[in-house]
Amino acid sequence: MITSTPSSPVTALSAATLARFDREVAKYPSDQKQSAVMACLAIVQQEQGHVSHEAEAAIARHLDMAPIAVHEVTTFYNMYNQQAVGKYKLNVCTNLPCQLRDGGKALAHLEHKLGVSMGQTTADGLFTLQQSECLGACADSPVMLVNDRHMCSFMSNDKLDALIDGLKAAEGKA
Ligand code: FES
Repeated sequence: MITSTPSSPVTALSAATLARFDREVAKYPSDQKQSAVMACLAIVQQEQGHVSHEAEAAIARHLDMAPIAVHEVTTFYNMYNQQAVGKYKLNVCTNLPCQLRDGGKALAHLEHKLGVSMGQTTADGLFTLQQSECLGACADSPVMLVNDRHMCSFMSNDKLDALIDGLKAAEGKA
C-alpha cells in the first residue's frame, strides 16, 4: 500500500514498512515515539538503500516530528545514505588525527584507483567513496569503514589495493 497526505506527494513507504516503524515505536513510552527515529531511518535504508527526502517526510509524519528534525538525524550520521550508493560504501576517516597519519593519502589513493572523486560512485555501481568523521580508531590510521560495519585499520596503499582487488574478484569484475 502507498501512503500519502494532502500536503505531500505520494511516498514509497508500504503498510509493511509502517508496521515495522510501529514495532520500534512500541519500545518507547507513548509520549516519546520520536525516540524511534534512528530505527525508522535504518528500516527505510535497509529496504530502499538510501533515505530520500520523501521518506524523511513520511517518518516525520509517523513520529509527529518536524521534517527538519528527521533530516538533522539523517545528515548527522555517516551510516545514513542520502542518495543511492554502490554495493560497497567506503568511508575513509579524514579527521585531523588521521590526516596527520596518511588518512588523506589513503583517500587520494582510492580516488586514483577507483577513478572517482570523493562522494562519487564508480560507473559499475560497485564502490562509493566517502570521507568520514572520526571512527574512534585514530591510532590505527589510515582507517576506513566498509558498508558501515567492517573496520579496516592501517590501510597502506598495498592493503587498499588488496581490498579493492579482492572485492572486485568476489564480484567477478577483477
Ligand atoms: S581521526 Fe580518524 S579514527 Fe579518529
